[in-house]
Amino acid sequence: MPKDLSHIPAPAQTPLIGNTLDLIRDAYGLHMGCIDAYGEIYRISMFGRWRVCLASAAGTEYILTDPDRIFSGAGGWDTVADLFPGGLFLRDFDDHRTHRRIMTAAFRKPALDSYLAITAPAMAAQVARWPLDRPLRLYPALKDLTLRLGAHVFMGLPVDSPEAPKLNRALSDEIAAGLTVIRKPLPFTRYRRGVTARARLTARFREMIDDRRAGDGADFFSRMCRARDEDGRGWSDDEIVDHFNFLMMAAHDTTASALSALTWYLALHPDWQEALAREVRATGNGPLTPDMLGAMPLTERVFNETMRLMAPVPFIPRLALRGFDWQGTWIPAGTHVTAMPGTVMLDPAHFPDPLRFDPNRFAPDRAEHLSHRFAYAPFGGGAHKCLGLHFSVMQVKSYVRALLSRHRVRLATKRPVQWQRLPIPKPRGGLPIRLHRRD
Ligand code: HEM
Repeated sequence: MPKDLSHIPAPAQTPLIGNTLDLIRDAYGLHMGCIDAYGEIYRISMFGRWRVCLASAAGTEYILTDPDRIFSGAGGWDTVADLFPGGLFLRDFDDHRTHRRIMTAAFRKPALDSYLAITAPAMAAQVARWPLDRPLRLYPALKDLTLRLGAHVFMGLPVDSPEAPKLNRALSDEIAAGLTVIRKPLPFTRYRRGVTARARLTARFREMIDDRRAGDGADFFSRMCRARDEDGRGWSDDEIVDHFNFLMMAAHDTTASALSALTWYLALHPDWQEALAREVRATGNGPLTPDMLGAMPLTERVFNETMRLMAPVPFIPRLALRGFDWQGTWIPAGTHVTAMPGTVMLDPAHFPDPLRFDPNRFAPDRAEHLSHRFAYAPFGGGAHKCLGLHFSVMQVKSYVRALLSRHRVRLATKRPVQWQRLPIPKPRGGLPIRLHRRD
């Protein structure tokens, strides 16, 4: 346990629960209030644990690049260690580097190009199933779409394999349990369903290993079974199962959240929707190729702006293994610290008029994201920087092309859409939209 933190300012606390309810209700409101009142260092109490927040680009850089090798990801993400043990978040320093080098084999350019060849047509086929001219709850539809694609692109199963829905249900249960507060497998709890689902999934992944190792499949799982670092080191069966299980979790809700938010912004900003539709049209009707991805700069700006305003991972936890001084404030060993890319990306010092949706901030002549190395970090940074970044950009471009080449998107509700921001942004009410055929 850290020694005294009383020299670090904190907002008012509710007995027993600290700031937990405020965080659940309005995490950004609480943090912005603290930043206004105390500046860039303060502490909040969540689920009985103090967390010291370094709410600046420099603080985010210090924690994530960790020049003094004092911040543990395993200690920071300990709340998901029970369901996702052995994943990259939960490994530190040399051990983390060894495992990440192997995982990188599944994310190299030829691998990404092969995922594009699988993803783009599957994405187009899924979007083509959505109904026209009547309300569609987009968030559940996108969760379904990403799970189906996951079974295909990640596990190498046919999109319509009868096994895919069962595996997808298990994965949904496991992910939901990873985010729940009660973490004891009591009967009828979400956590218990997650623990059972994990057992089922890991048993199935294990059965698939021998075949996939011997085959030449282009899906993530097959590549991870064959993955080797530059020295020829690969993973044991147990490690493959743990890394793959973790990867599915890291990829799934982040993507569903990002695609929902992006579609919402396009529905709110028809001018940008039309600009992206023109960009998509210019890619023609043939298969989406890696070169075409490079020719979609406006889509990339809209995605960047979406990630800035609605970051799927706005707060990144670490455990300080040694005490350190941050700009004159001593933070003792054993303190849970938080890097805050979510609030930094709303700081007017880096992004003028920060709440305005303005994708051209990322245009080369403005490049507001380059005002500091960590002004814009929705995918983190340093040793744990998201390995799925380029995969995500590819997925987003495939989605935008599938969506806008044939459709216009409108909101199907007059009420303002509210977003639950934690643990991952999610539209309340499921985000009703209407798709209309483009002439
Ligand atoms: C919009 C979508 C996504 C966002 C915003 C996102 C964000 C992040 C962030 C912030 C981290 C760093 C966490 C930390 O430092 O503790 C991370 C790590 C990671 N992400 Fe993503 N992610 C996304 C999608 C994906 C996808 C699609 C994949 C896989 C295909 C993926 C795989 C990973 C992995 C393996 C790590 C762990 C890296 C490590 O610890 O070395 N992510 N992600």
